[in-house]
Amino acid sequence: MEFECIILEIKEKVGLITLHRPKALNALNDQLMNELGSALKSLDSNEAIQCIVITGSEKAFAAGADIAAMANYSFMDTYKGDYITRNWETIRQIRKPVIAAVAGYALGGGCELAMMCDFIIAAENAKFGQPEIKLGTLPGAGGTQRLPRAISKSKAMDMCLTARMMDAAEAERAGLVSRVVPLEMLLEEAMAAASTIASMSLPIVMMIKESVNRAYETTLSEGVHFERRLFQASFGTEDQKEGMAAFLEKRSAVFKNQ
Ligand code: CAA
Repeated sequence: MEFECIILEIKEKVGLITLHRPKALNALNDQLMNELGSALKSLDSNEAIQCIVITGSEKAFAAGADIAAMANYSFMDTYKGDYITRNWETIRQIRKPVIAAVAGYALGGGCELAMMCDFIIAAENAKFGQPEIKLGTLPGAGGTQRLPRAISKSKAMDMCLTARMMDAAEAERAGLVSRVVPLEMLLEEAMAAASTIASMSLPIVMMIKESVNRAYETTLSEGVHFERRLFQASFGTEDQKEGMAAFLEKRSAVFKNQ
């Protein structure tokens, strides 16, 4: 498939998706989100790929849903047609890890998209915000739900109600991002993290992603039960045998994804 709003590159075992609508600061319109969804699905089903990175430009990861595209929608367009966010949750179906490498603005839907990734690595110039209130609306792709889980109710309320932006240092302190690096190091750092993940056993990587995500969907005792079953299941893999044998033999493990 030919893409116009994203760039898809394969770098060894890592799929790199660059959001690419520079004139609109990567505003997330239907076409971009459709392209992103199909790129993610194709990488997820590609056996040669073990990790995915989504990034934007130096100025903007994404400045939100496309305001020009949605400004005149009616309630019926948005409700019956689900026009604005109908294809936004595709990323949640992806079973391989997805890292957001964020520089510049990650606002509104851009912040929400970053939060739908498995973790966020930020450049020092990153700015996160949910400014929808200034447009007379509210976050529509999980901002009011994922922000409180990521950074606490107090900070989430502050950001959603005042529309203030959070810089990278505050985002790291608050736990929204896992690492902050100089802008020129962002892609290198994200690709290095992705390559590290890609060197592990893919089925185990997928189990860990599934298990950590379960923490957001269930009670502690159910989550621990779920984790225990996956931990036990890992003993049915060849990669567990290889990983533990390699440790005991003081050598690097060579995983076969089996
Ligand atoms: N949608 C459509 N176009 C956008 C856009 C958006 N979200 N954000 C920026 N653009 C466009 C601008 O209209 C401008 O286009 P023109 O050159 O054709 O005028 C171009 O990108 C550059 O933007 P600015 O001139 O505004 O650049 P700036 O550096 O002065 O400001 C900014 C940058 C602070 C990010 C500012 O563009 C801005 O506030 N953007 C809107 C952010 C926003 O409100 N996002 C939330 C959207 S609603 C949403 O996302 C709902 C949801 O939860 C799903």
